[in-house]
Amino acid sequence: MSTPPDTDPLAAWVDRTREGIGEGRFPARAFNDPAVHALEQERLFSRAWCFLAHESEIPEPGDYVTRYLGNNNLIVARDEEGAVHAHLNMCRHRGNVMCKAEMGNASHFRCSYHGWTYKNSGELIGVPYLKEGYQERLKRKDWGLVRVRVASYEGLVFGCLAPDAPSLEEYLGDFTFYLDLYLKHGSGGVEVHGPPDHWTAETDWKICAENFAGDGYHTPVAHQWGFNLGYFPSSGSTHSQGWAVSIPGRGHGIGLGHSPAFPPFGGFPDDLVEDMKRTLSPEQAEVFARTRTAVGTVFPNLSFLMQPFSLVPGEPGVRFVTMRLYHPAGPGRMEMYSWCLVPRDASQEYKDQAYRAYTLAFGQAGTFEQDDFENWTKVTRSAASTMVRDVDFPYVMGMGSDPDRDFPGPGHAVVPYVNDTNFRNLWSRWGDYLAGEA
Ligand code: FES
Ligand SMILES: [Fe+2]
Repeated sequence: MSTPPDTDPLAAWVDRTREGIGEGRFPARAFNDPAVHALEQERLFSRAWCFLAHESEIPEPGDYVTRYLGNNNLIVARDEEGAVHAHLNMCRHRGNVMCKAEMGNASHFRCSYHGWTYKNSGELIGVPYLKEGYQERLKRKDWGLVRVRVASYEGLVFGCLAPDAPSLEEYLGDFTFYLDLYLKHGSGGVEVHGPPDHWTAETDWKICAENFAGDGYHTPVAHQWGFNLGYFPSSGSTHSQGWAVSIPGRGHGIGLGHSPAFPPFGGFPDDLVEDMKRTLSPEQAEVFARTRTAVGTVFPNLSFLMQPFSLVPGEPGVRFVTMRLYHPAGPGRMEMYSWCLVPRDASQEYKDQAYRAYTLAFGQAGTFEQDDFENWTKVTRSAASTMVRDVDFPYVMGMGSDPDRDFPGPGHAVVPYVNDTNFRNLWSRWGDYLAGEA
């Protein structure tokens, strides 16, 4: 019996890839391929909730930033009443880019082509030659900027292009338990320490998303200098103890590295710690106390990392938080946005120290960043070669291991932290979207 011709090789590849993930394999091709990139734009970034901005980046009426959601450039602005909006950064007249700056403050945006003018809430309010030229045929209320659905969690503003996609709350699910470990640093929460570092890299966004979903495996190798030179306080053995926690069916995952010698809540100012404990639930405080390093990814392309870093080798160190967004700018190419988050209620001295630690480690010239991108750029380059088209990578570490039933947080928690479980969950969710099933 003959089989029917394969009418859609990419769909067949997605099906095979999804099967492979269940068996602990993932294809190299996924990390740099024009067809896969195009399918991600069509099926994933058009439906998932994607991070746009932190509310503290636009605290005042009129403040705005421009960001991407998939391949769409958006203006994310706070209007005169204080509400946050996201609109396509495109004039409705002939499609000119409305706002050419990455950030600023404006009550209105005026197009540089024919002069149409919009309020920061998106309404069209100015059309040159309106009466004489359009003779009542153009109603301004019908031609506002194209609006994008937005929702927030603890100051994080997300956007979603699909009107029928579930709410942000449902999308994040139980991962908010772990997001709070980065965001609830005292009753004032966190704020950005200035604008993000922003750069381009010849790297596929998925490599970064996977690495930050809890790749504790690479740390003692790629970042060995830090152990050798004493920049990682109380790091103990090479590969961390701790947990890999994933939210099954959602794609989110976090690695919680535990070092017995590292003091609970170490690296934060003493006067903040009591307020942090009150702000977190007892279960969250328990997880926090046992965590030295927390590195997690909100599916698809937003990550967080919290870890201690010694500004002077051998000293106890300061714990900092970085938040990073991987914008897929093309096949095997991305724009990175990287922020330092600091507790709003902390002293300026601690905020500046945390920012210094962040900059030395994860700023665009940061030592960790250099280590990582050296590897990630090479992975991306390898993935584009013709021989790689049928090559898979193994994702079998920790396969079949039982969850830790005593772990106090939600989701699927396994030990040790060095594990592929989070990555299988991440790529499984990615496969759902690419198959059109999410
Ligand atoms: S393209 Fe903006 S006013 Fe014509
Ligand atoms: Fe790294």
